[in-house]
Amino acid sequence: MEDKIFMQVDEYISNLLAPVDDVLGHAERATHAAGMPMISISPVQGKFLQVLAKMCNAKNVLELGTLGGYSTIWLARAIPDDGEVVTIEADSGYAEVARRNFEFAELHNKIDIRIGKALDVLPQLEKERIGPFDLIFIDADKPPYVEYFQWAIKLARPGSIIIADNVIREGAVLDENSTDEKVHGVRRLNQWLSGNKEVTATILQNVGIKEYDGMVVAVVN
Ligand code: SAH
Ligand code: DHB
Ligand code: MG
Repeated sequence: MEDKIFMQVDEYISNLLAPVDDVLGHAERATHAAGMPMISISPVQGKFLQVLAKMCNAKNVLELGTLGGYSTIWLARAIPDDGEVVTIEADSGYAEVARRNFEFAELHNKIDIRIGKALDVLPQLEKERIGPFDLIFIDADKPPYVEYFQWAIKLARPGSIIIADNVIREGAVLDENSTDEKVHGVRRLNQWLSGNKEVTATILQNVGIKEYDGMVVAVVN
């Protein structure tokens, strides 16, 4: 089965290049124990975000969608000690789990969790003149993905990297008649990007231990 080889190879890569330590394991277990959805990125994807962060010398990172903070921990570990990850989470209960995970990770001084809907918090960040962000990871709810991407560009600089998770949805993006609002949201982003001149973008398909999906990888022109 294809799925099986993708999983085995993902574990092979993870064992070699993206090992999961106590801190990451703890974050995943705490997320599960709190009854939260197990939809955080995989270790290999976390390492991919770290490589991108290093490529653009990222110091200031923005994340939309914290959940238990698993991806946040990968990102925070890729930036210098005087850098910061601002991460936005709509669910205050989830944010509390994430906050505890950041303390356990001893990364709480590098992470600023903002509780609220991203479309409310983003204008606030603009008002506070936080940024520009060197890397932005979009991973919150899918329907407003175009609006999130527009905000990401607004809060970025030329050369900033913007990533958007879950834009392939097991291939469901091919179905133009899909009634799934998540599929609709990511299809809208992918289509919007095809005519956009502000970024240079592509989509990487992702196979591995998580569901077959994909990420937009873009750089601001
Ligand atoms: N980035 C995480 C996974 C995020 S899952 C990781 O890889 O570890 C998506 C998260 O987005 C959930 O925690 C959900 O509560 C949050 N979310 C949903 N709608 C949101 C909104 N409007 N604004 C901010 N966060 C939102
Ligand atoms: C979903 C959201 C995610 O961010 C993800 O990585 C996988 C699934 C979801 O809402 O279905
Ligand atoms: Mg995701």
